[in-house]
Amino acid sequence: MKSPRAIFVCQECGSQSPKWMGRCADCGAWNSLVEERVAEEPRPAGGQRYATRGSEAGARRYDEIETAARPRLTAGIDEFDRVLGGGIVPGSLVLLGGEPGIGKSTLLLQVAGRFASSHGPVLYSSGEESEHQLKLRGERLGLDRPPLFLLAETCLERVLEEMERLRPALLILDSVQTAFSMKLPSAPGSIGQVREVATQLLFAAKAREVPVFLVGHVTKEGSLAGPKSLEHIVDTVLYFEGERHHSHRVIRAVKNRFGAVSELGVFEMTGHGLEPVQNPSALFLAERQAAAPGSSVVCCMEGSRPILVEIQALVSASPYGSGRRTAIGIDQNRLALLLAVLEKRAGLSLGGDDVYLNIAGGLSVDEPAADLGVVTAVASSLRNRPILPGTAVFGEVGLGGEVRTVTQAARRIREAAQMGFTRCILPGGNAGAADEAAAHQACETIPVATVSAALDHAFA
Ligand code: TYD
Ligand code: MG
Repeated sequence: MKSPRAIFVCQECGSQSPKWMGRCADCGAWNSLVEERVAEEPRPAGGQRYATRGSEAGARRYDEIETAARPRLTAGIDEFDRVLGGGIVPGSLVLLGGEPGIGKSTLLLQVAGRFASSHGPVLYSSGEESEHQLKLRGERLGLDRPPLFLLAETCLERVLEEMERLRPALLILDSVQTAFSMKLPSAPGSIGQVREVATQLLFAAKAREVPVFLVGHVTKEGSLAGPKSLEHIVDTVLYFEGERHHSHRVIRAVKNRFGAVSELGVFEMTGHGLEPVQNPSALFLAERQAAAPGSSVVCCMEGSRPILVEIQALVSASPYGSGRRTAIGIDQNRLALLLAVLEKRAGLSLGGDDVYLNIAGGLSVDEPAADLGVVTAVASSLRNRPILPGTAVFGEVGLGGEVRTVTQAARRIREAAQMGFTRCILPGGNAGAADEAAAHQACETIPVATVSAALDHAFA
């Protein structure tokens, strides 16, 4: 056997180089190259190097492939099923990413317990906690006695052996960064190992039609360690969002081969695990002071679900002449653009002021329909006048100061009405859908064409 060859692999982007460099030639990251050794495996004759799905190695005619849809398996937690696009697809590889301590292990242990009770044995392999610790956590979570198998193991081959032996209906690996394959000599967590582990699990999942969940840690910069390579390999990528300081947790799908992305699952961390939140709008509006200047309620669509969020703005005279603009939960550039529109098209003067913007509850919103919420909140703080009580808004704002049509207006209005809002300011282009939706609701709809008109209606 040849001696292992040394290569240098960038831990940020996964690119390889034959020699060490201070800066990755591909992604430009500094000091990210780490030596990894690859043992050159002798390639078996006949080209059987890659695992395939059973014997179906050859190409098949499109119309000969039967599509008898295999049912999705429910995880037993509605919010989680929703993010996955309606349940767990057999044979899928799902990556769950998030900061340390946000609740990844907690959620997956809960899923494991529920899943085991309804679909059969589950293997939970952890490289971070002992079986004892996992059991203690399970007791807190109130798991009864499901056929759940716990394994404290970091060696992937051992995990696969156990999988072969137990034939579980679901495999969970916590976390991909602590697991290593004996095929590679590099340390666990290095990009080569992470990729190898994910690839082997992908083959295992597809070959046995067993769903596999992987836990992935995110780096300080907020991306999954080994991001590009992992996201390409797996079928579905879920991220835990939100802050550890809030009790609620948001899970978002950023890639899903089996469903819509940008679906959202909302949970609350309680003394006995993560509880699904049935009514997220109520949660995000819980601490709102309706009569406070600078607060505006906007109706956003998160995937297929409307959610009301509070946008808070604070405009204060800058002591240093040139104003600061800070946004949390919304794109900084978007804020700058909207402030420029307010100055130029609605005649507000913000030149020497600091503007702070925040989405209450730690949610982040990247939908253009939130624009109207931002401009009304800023105007309200600047004028120091609250927006009329019971008012919700939505609409995209263009550079000409026009309010542009958004999608799914009817659902937004219905959600606002259900949450007790009696007026809804919305784009003129949505007036048709709005009338229909409002016909059954006690919610007055106010179509507007421009930002100035929206502001007039917000305060008068
Ligand atoms: P954990 O699932 O260990 O996080 P991760 O696997 O993402 O690193 O989450 C642990 C946090 O959740 C910890 O700070 C304690 C809290 N927690 C609760 O509040 N209630 C509970 O029932 C459990 C199990 C954990
Ligand atoms: Mg954990």
